[in-house]
Amino acid sequence: MKITVVGAGAVGATTADNIIRRELAEEVVLLDIKEGVSEGKSLDMYQTAALLGFNTKPIGSTNDYEKTKGSDVVVITSGLPRKPGMTREELIGINAGIVKSVTENLLKYSPKAIVIVVSNPMDTMTYMAFKESGIPKKRLIGMGGALDSARFKTYLALAMDVSPLDIHGMVIGGHGDTTMIPLTRLATYNGMPVSRFLSSEKLEKVAADTMVGGATLTKLIGTSAWYAPGAAVMMLVESIVRNQKRVVPCSVYLNGEYGQKDICMGVPVVLGRNGWEKIISLRLSDAEKAAFEKSAEAVRAMNGALNL
Ligand code: NAI
Repeated sequence: MKITVVGAGAVGATTADNIIRRELAEEVVLLDIKEGVSEGKSLDMYQTAALLGFNTKPIGSTNDYEKTKGSDVVVITSGLPRKPGMTREELIGINAGIVKSVTENLLKYSPKAIVIVVSNPMDTMTYMAFKESGIPKKRLIGMGGALDSARFKTYLALAMDVSPLDIHGMVIGGHGDTTMIPLTRLATYNGMPVSRFLSSEKLEKVAADTMVGGATLTKLIGTSAWYAPGAAVMMLVESIVRNQKRVVPCSVYLNGEYGQKDICMGVPVVLGRNGWEKIISLRLSDAEKAAFEKSAEAVRAMNGALNL
């Protein structure tokens, strides 16, 4: 198994670090445009092998795509992150150019790879990668819902003072502060609806905190987060390479599912060795359906800015 991560910044390096620690592949390539950065970070990471006990050796590459040749999974994290006060959508112009050229280069050397898009605005970047590259839809996955769901579970666990491991919950829709949909109605604590433990006001607050979860961190840190994003990407990669068939909300190309066509948005999918295998159709309430429709309108407006 060979995995490439493009972008050796905060999210890309954390992703690669998580992947090598779990030995998800024999080869992990970390590529960045900045001279020496990916080589330096790879060496730094490999120096933890003797301390933490793993065998996967990361390989750094300054923009040399030859080294990525034959990758089974490629992760695209290259691009600008947001600064305090910025929305993910404001990154569109610059990141579109970066994601387009990176996708082309990756597919040239790894035409059969499963592609995971992380760069923001993620749903639009995933849609653009689909339109521009012609990659089969099941091999293209946008990461957003996995992270947003982890944040949702964390806020639920904090509100209930329980372990996040005992919470099940999902965030679907677009990966934006106003477009994501935390499904509070379907969230459970050890199989019991969380509404048994939290008042509707508290649940509304959890949903609101989840939606601005990224912005809250950006304000605190001064740039966007990386620990949970890196772990979320690793979780997708793990389900793919180990063929775990986990159900995770991911941004995928919809062709009528959830009432939407020709758009990439977050819906629960089964992730296995060949990419996303199928979309899980949740029975949404009328209010949730309306929220999904509204979310799709916002994602579509963003896609429109690219004139695809
Ligand atoms: P960062 O600035 O720390 O790292 C980005 C890296 O990309 C830099 O090292 C830069 O040199 C590199 N890069 C830029 N152009 C490149 C190119 N053409 N080829 C190769 N490398 C190139 O940013 P960070 O925090 O790692 O975020 C990366 C992206 O991921 C941002 O767009 C951010 O908004 C997004 N993000 C998405 C999340 C999600 O849930 N989908 C979560 C967190 C971040």
